Amino acid sequence: MTYPIQYDMKGQSCFMSGATSGINEQIARRFAEAGANIFVISRSPEKVQRTVDMLKEAGGEASGSPVDVRDYDSVVSAVTRAQATFGNFDVVFAGQAGNFPAGAAQMSANAFKSVIDIDLLGTFNVFRATIEHAKKPGASYLAISAPQATRPWLFQSHVCAAKAGVNMLIKCCALEWGASGVRVNAISPGPIDGTEGMERLAPTEELKAKVADAVAMKRMGNRDDIAEAALWLCSPAASYVTGTVLEAEGGMTLGDATNAMKL
Ligand code: NAP
Ligand code: COA
Repeated sequence: MTYPIQYDMKGQSCFMSGATSGINEQIARRFAEAGANIFVISRSPEKVQRTVDMLKEAGGEASGSPVDVRDYDSVVSAVTRAQATFGNFDVVFAGQAGNFPAGAAQMSANAFKSVIDIDLLGTFNVFRATIEHAKKPGASYLAISAPQATRPWLFQSHVCAAKAGVNMLIKCCALEWGASGVRVNAISPGPIDGTEGMERLAPTEELKAKVADAVAMKRMGNRDDIAEAALWLCSPAASYVTGTVLEAEGGMTLGDATNAMKL
């Protein structure tokens, strides 16, 4: 696909968590195509290495290390390496998440905690560990939320609670960091075709068709739909946008898509 608006991120320093597969990997790819230098972290050393190779091929400089965002000290070590490699951060991105369908009365306390820790605490850890090294003014922070943040959703109490927390976290950080010229936003993607998240929530063709039909635009999104929104939010074109959760979801929450996903 070609895009009418080209963004220039030449030489920009980006720290990106959870950007080694799915939606987030495509965001990283588009940042690299725009010339960004990217440091990626996620748990799997293989996924980190594969992504670093892909980003270099896409046109940016890249490095990374295997880190679980739940471990604050490991995040700090990675941030120190990233800052030494690419300099203070123009963009900080936190996109990692965990999801599985499970009822609140069935899942263990540790199951609930795992998702809260990956999605919400992990986003805080990335934000907290990077803020001392963010460019001020000018840095852009971006988290990934989900439609579950604003609607109760069957078998998703852990994700709903975690992503609602992410929505509030970005607003609080936007409020605290605005005076130093740092913007903080989130994107809430709708159902994105061909991703791990959708495989877990709508594993059959029948369910996928139901979900697509329940979205106002009558289709699932694709990874570029979200990557383009991310590029815009992290660009100077969005220079007065902060504390916002951008819903790139085809109108999913306007209708009844969440009910179509009864599992
Ligand atoms: P995905 O492919 O499963 O990507 C998840 C990423 O997070 C991977 O890079 C994974 O790498 C990393 N990760 C997971 N746990 C981690 C941890 N503890 N520490 C560090 N990294 C960790 O997911 P996706 O479906 O594309 O979703 C991406 C984002 O979009 C998520 O935030 C999700 O909630 C959101 N979202 C997705 C959809 C959808 O339709 N897919 C809809 C709405 C919102 P490792 O395995 O190497 O750790
Ligand atoms: N239903 C109910 N509970 C589940 C579950 C499921 N499908 N999958 C895992 N759990 C529980 C485990 O039983 C465990 O609880 P316990 O200790 O009481 O038994 C707890 O969740 C943690 O599981 P574990 O496998 O140890 O966690 P992990 O940290 O290795 O993995 C997950 C985290 C569970 C979120 C895993 O699914 C994951 O790594 N997801 C990342 C990819 C992803 O979810 N992508 C979609 C993003 S939208």
